Amino acid sequence: MNLQGRHFLKLLDFTAEEITYLIDLAAEYKAKKKQGVLVDEYRGKNVALIFEKTSTRTRCAFEVAAHDLGMGTTYLDPVSSQIGKKESIADTARVLGGMFDGIEYRGFEQTKVEEIAKYAGVPVWNGLTNEFHPTQMLADLLTIREQFGYLKGIKFTYMGDARYNMGNSLMVACAQMGMHFTACTNRKYFPDSALVAKCRAIAEKTGATITLTEDVKEGTKGANVIYTDVWVSMGEPDEVWDERIRELMPYQVNAAAMANADKDAIFMHCLPAFHDVKTKIGALIAEKFGIREMEVTNEVFESAQSKVFEEAENRMHTIKAVMAATLPKSKC
Ligand code: CP
Ligand code: NVA
Repeated sequence: MNLQGRHFLKLLDFTAEEITYLIDLAAEYKAKKKQGVLVDEYRGKNVALIFEKTSTRTRCAFEVAAHDLGMGTTYLDPVSSQIGKKESIADTARVLGGMFDGIEYRGFEQTKVEEIAKYAGVPVWNGLTNEFHPTQMLADLLTIREQFGYLKGIKFTYMGDARYNMGNSLMVACAQMGMHFTACTNRKYFPDSALVAKCRAIAEKTGATITLTEDVKEGTKGANVIYTDVWVSMGEPDEVWDERIRELMPYQVNAAAMANADKDAIFMHCLPAFHDVKTKIGALIAEKFGIREMEVTNEVFESAQSKVFEEAENRMHTIKAVMAATLPKSKC
């Protein structure tokens, strides 16, 4: 398998074999990290990390993974570069492509990261856009495989806002890996119908299924994995909280949903999660709407079924695999 020089913009650009290769490589890097084995075979290389939206996991995962691989990093935050204000995406891509060996980009429209990839001349990695979050997918697939030992045939239920980056990406990932994906939510939040059609076509070949349902009992029944994400994503206006809470509260992941799933079911969330009022937004929502938990209850979040912190750690191992697979090794 040779992915050198490839961009990592969305899972749809990769075959199931290529995705499996990246997950296997991540597992290898994870084992080496636990054993204290150095993997700094990319010394002398440098990567740019562009974040037009905030981040904890993705930024730290890229920085730690790059440093473990022996590379230097430059972080460009959401306000202090010229990108988009004084300098176009195409110009920025050509400038950075001349200095760096790879570029990570987190931003708004998917078209932006695709444009950077078109002009940069070096591998570009999508660190999240409105439409897709592909590095998160590799971490999620690795976590599920670690928990169950396999991916094909896993019953995967996504609750909440299924028409944004996480719902879209998870539906694609399940279709490609032969898993049974159910979006269990208010129909207003079902994924885009064109993407559903594309995933159903992939599913026909892989043995996956794609189900959309508003019925919580039906949607969570026998699930191996129950997954959710925040109800209001980065870049969306605060005004939407009111309707999101009203429309998505029936799809909160709570003890009843988990009890209806398989007895060995796990709970997953890309994080950050609103499961208590220990955050600024969580406290404001509690004050305004009188609720102390949103997409997941604190009980489920803190339960033994919850694998969210294993999942978060896997961000680093999988991002390391993406960079290592797409960059040529240093000559020494
Ligand atoms: N899951 C995820 O992408 O987290 P950050 O927003 O903290 O990077
Ligand atoms: N849907 C969320 C994912 C965060 C990792 C957002 O875009 O804010």
